[in-house]
Amino acid sequence: MNQSYLKMSSEELKQQFDAVLAEYNEIKSQGLNIDMSRGKPGSDQLDISNDMLNVFVDGNFKTEAGFDVRNYGLLQGIPECQKLFAELLGVKPENIIVGGNSSLSLMYDYVAQCMFIGAGFTPWSKQGKVKFLCPCPGYDRHFAICESLGIEMINIRMTSEGPDIAQIKEAVKDSAVKGMFVVPKYSNPQGITFSDSVVKELAELTPAADDFRIIWDNAYIVHDLSDESDRLLNIFSVLPERNKNMIIEVTSTSKISFPGAGVSCLASSEENIKEILKRLTVQSISYDKLNMLRHVKYFKNADGIKEHMKKHAKILKPKFDAVLDTLNADLSGLEIAEWNEPNGGYFISLDVTGGSASRVGVLCKEAGVTLTNVGATFPYGKDPSDSNIRIAPTFPNPEVLKQAVKVLTVSVRLACLENLIK
Ligand SMILES: Cc1ncc(COP(=O)(O)O)c(C=O)c1O
Repeated sequence: MNQSYLKMSSEELKQQFDAVLAEYNEIKSQGLNIDMSRGKPGSDQLDISNDMLNVFVDGNFKTEAGFDVRNYGLLQGIPECQKLFAELLGVKPENIIVGGNSSLSLMYDYVAQCMFIGAGFTPWSKQGKVKFLCPCPGYDRHFAICESLGIEMINIRMTSEGPDIAQIKEAVKDSAVKGMFVVPKYSNPQGITFSDSVVKELAELTPAADDFRIIWDNAYIVHDLSDESDRLLNIFSVLPERNKNMIIEVTSTSKISFPGAGVSCLASSEENIKEILKRLTVQSISYDKLNMLRHVKYFKNADGIKEHMKKHAKILKPKFDAVLDTLNADLSGLEIAEWNEPNGGYFISLDVTGGSASRVGVLCKEAGVTLTNVGATFPYGKDPSDSNIRIAPTFPNPEVLKQAVKVLTVSVRLACLENLIK
C-alpha cells in the first residue's frame, strides 16, 4: 500500500518529488508516441466482423419481402433491420428509423430540426433562448452539438446512479430548458449505468417546456466487459402517456461491427417518428440498405449481437484490467486520485485532486502520450475543478497501453506533488 501524500511531512514530500521527477524524466527520454485520445476499437476488434463483408457471395440482395436493397427506397430502413434494433432496444419495429453509420448524425439532425424546423412544435430558435442540461463529465460531442447550434449548456452533476435528479427537477422549471443528452448505460466517460430509480424519475419529469426532449444515447447498450454486466431499465416501459414524446433513443453498431461502416438507429414515439420522417424525406432518398441487410444476415437477431459482443469483451477486458491494475498499484492510498471500475463501455474516468488535470495532460503530452483533451468532458471544454481525465484503453495493444498508463500515473503523482510542495 502506498503512503498517503497528505500525511507526509514537507521533507518527505520533497524526497518523493525528486524521486518521481527522476522517474518522469527517465520515461520522457524513451521518446514514446502513444495516442489514447479517442475511444475506438483496436484493429483486432475490427477483424472480428470481417466475415460480414462476405454475406452477399450468394448474390441475393433482396429483403424477405423481395425488395432489392441496392436501389432507392425504404427511407425508414429495411423491415428486418428495424426488427433487429427493436429486439435490442425492447420497442416495436415501427418505432424505429434505421439510419446511416452514425448515431451522432441522427442526434445532430434531430436537434437541428428541433431548433430550426420544429418537430411537432414551434422551432426552439423562434421561442427565445434555448438551454440544454448536460450531465458531466460527459461526451464531448454532445456538448459540441449544443455549442454549434447555439444552445446554452447547464452543468448537471453525475452521481454513482446517474445524473443528479434533484438538480434536473429544479432546472426543468425553466421553460427555456428544452432538453438533455444522456448516456444511460456505461456512460462516457464514467461507465455509470443509471439505476432503475433514476430512469423512472427521468421518465416522470414534469418540465415546464412541453417540447422538452431527452436524447437517450444508448451507445454502449451491449458493451459489457464480462458476465457481471449492468442492467438498464427500458425507459419506454415506464414512460407515462403525458411524456410519450419525450424520449429520443439512439444507438449504433459502431463498436459492434465497424465504427466507419456500421448501422445506427433512432427509436421514439409514433408522432416523433412521423415528424422525423417528414424532414428525412427532404434530406435523403434512403440510407445504405446494403449495409442494413449485411448486418441482419450476419447477426440474425439480438442474441447474435450479444454473442458477438463476448468476442469484443475477450479483447477488451485485459486492457481495462491492465489500466486498473496500474492505477491501483501506483495511485491507491496516495489520496490524490479516484477512478471508476466499469463493467462495460469504452472508458475509465480518473479524477485528480488539486486542480491538476490540465497539468497532467501537459506532462503526458511532453512524455509522448496524448490523452483526450483535458476539460473536453465538460461543456465548453471547461472542467470547473480541473480534475477529470478520460482514459480510452481500447485502441493501444496491451503492452503499449501499460507504458501509456505508467506515463499517466507518474504524471499524476508529479503534478500533485508540484502542488503539495508549493
Ligand atoms: C456516447 C457516445 N455516443 C455516440 C458515439 C458515436 O456514435 P456513432 O459512431 O454511432 O456516431 C460515441 C462514440 O464514441 C459515444 O461515446
